[in-house]
Amino acid sequence: MIKIAFIASEAAPFAKTGGLADVAGSLPKALQSKSFNVDVYLPLHRIISDTFRNEMKFLGATSVSMGWRTQYVGVYHLIHEGVDHYFIDNEFYFKRHTLYGEGDDAERYVFFSKAVLAAMKFMDRKPDIIHTNDWHTAAVNVLINEYRKHDEFYADIKTVFTIHNLRYQGIFDPYTLGDLLDLPKEYFNEDQLKYYNSINLLKGGIVFSDHVTTVSKSYAEEIKYPYFGENLDGIIRKYDFKLTGIVNGIDYETYSPSKDVNIPINFDLRSIGRKKEIKMHLQIKFGLPVDPEIPMLAIVSRLVDMKGMDLIEHILDELLLENVQLVVLGTGESRYEDLFKTYQYRYPDKVAARIYFDQYESHSIYAGADIFIMPSLFEPCGLSQLIALRYGTIPVVRQIGGLKDTVIPFNKYTGEGNGFGFQNYNAHELLFTIKEALSTYENDENWKMLMRHAMKADNSWTASSKEYMAIYMKLMGQELYEDPNM
Ligand code: GLC
Repeated sequence: MIKIAFIASEAAPFAKTGGLADVAGSLPKALQSKSFNVDVYLPLHRIISDTFRNEMKFLGATSVSMGWRTQYVGVYHLIHEGVDHYFIDNEFYFKRHTLYGEGDDAERYVFFSKAVLAAMKFMDRKPDIIHTNDWHTAAVNVLINEYRKHDEFYADIKTVFTIHNLRYQGIFDPYTLGDLLDLPKEYFNEDQLKYYNSINLLKGGIVFSDHVTTVSKSYAEEIKYPYFGENLDGIIRKYDFKLTGIVNGIDYETYSPSKDVNIPINFDLRSIGRKKEIKMHLQIKFGLPVDPEIPMLAIVSRLVDMKGMDLIEHILDELLLENVQLVVLGTGESRYEDLFKTYQYRYPDKVAARIYFDQYESHSIYAGADIFIMPSLFEPCGLSQLIALRYGTIPVVRQIGGLKDTVIPFNKYTGEGNGFGFQNYNAHELLFTIKEALSTYENDENWKMLMRHAMKADNSWTASSKEYMAIYMKLMGQELYEDPNM
């Protein structure tokens, strides 16, 4: 049995701002088996609901030093879906309205990193491997490198670091090094934490981990070059030997067209036609003309540049000349929130702008729409296109990163494919590709075939969790073998 400690700043259903939470909420469950035990560590964020808090058990408290101060570390425990979750409590750091974007983020997440390491020792619950995610927890992999020199407990723990998004790196003032991390100044050099005149925690995560993964094969290649490398492509190339791209999965229980209680009508491969009834439900709810034949386009996304919203803005008028309906769900930059609100006002029969986020509604849109639009500027993996595929909604994506690895463009000659894709970050390439999807939609046979291919694509964690297992086993000097009971 290999013991994994999986550490993240957010995880569904406890606290979620983005895709990281979905992965941290579903991958541990997929790994948990006879051969692997996974403990999940999270901050006890204020937004975690009382329903969960009331179920938690207080295990005790320890402390860590943060510069000249000593800070309280409370540890709470909850078993959720068969996985042990440990929550680090400290109200000074985590009783905030937001998860990130506070002036003292460096301190808050360095505290969390130290607290997790202290909590493991306090509970005498030593993992074989620590698996951290993104810059918020990268300090763990750096700190343990130092701790293991003086403390037996940490001596032989291996580390894995996963990059979910290379853009956010945790770049802070070098004083953090001595004051908060308590690391000797030797760490401030180009090969370790130094990044221009600052320190870069994500860089530290890459340098000090035994293995690094990122969330798709294509992104793992892309970040070796300056265009997608976010100024760290040199470091990524240097550590290429320990980098693996593993595409994310989604939880097939949460997202299940045949069982989902969040959608008005359930369906499966044999009753794919019922999607149209869900579409009519949406049309009624959103005040759009009720007609099952009008193609419904959907955007469920954070409304930000990274997601390609500027491309949509550029072609929106031309797109709305077509006989289509467009449903938008999400929040983000006010520029894009206003854009969709304005278009709803101008085209009330065509546009429904839902400028908020609602899990229940998102499932119905994934299930009821015909075409899902996701023209990201960059996309390490992307989960929305996987959800869309699962519900037979055909994605139109930019073919980069995880989008390239999971959406196969339709080939009208061979019938292969489960979506549509375009290459260049160009608004009219997007428009032409949407138009191609719309003309395919008119051919009922072809469209049904596309929907079937989409629904049959396996984007569950089954295959990807095995790739993580193989990495863990390799770090433990073992080979992955196929155990039918695993
Ligand atoms: C980040 C990435 C997204 C990925 C998710 C989970 O949010 O931007 O592409 O799917 O992390 O790994």
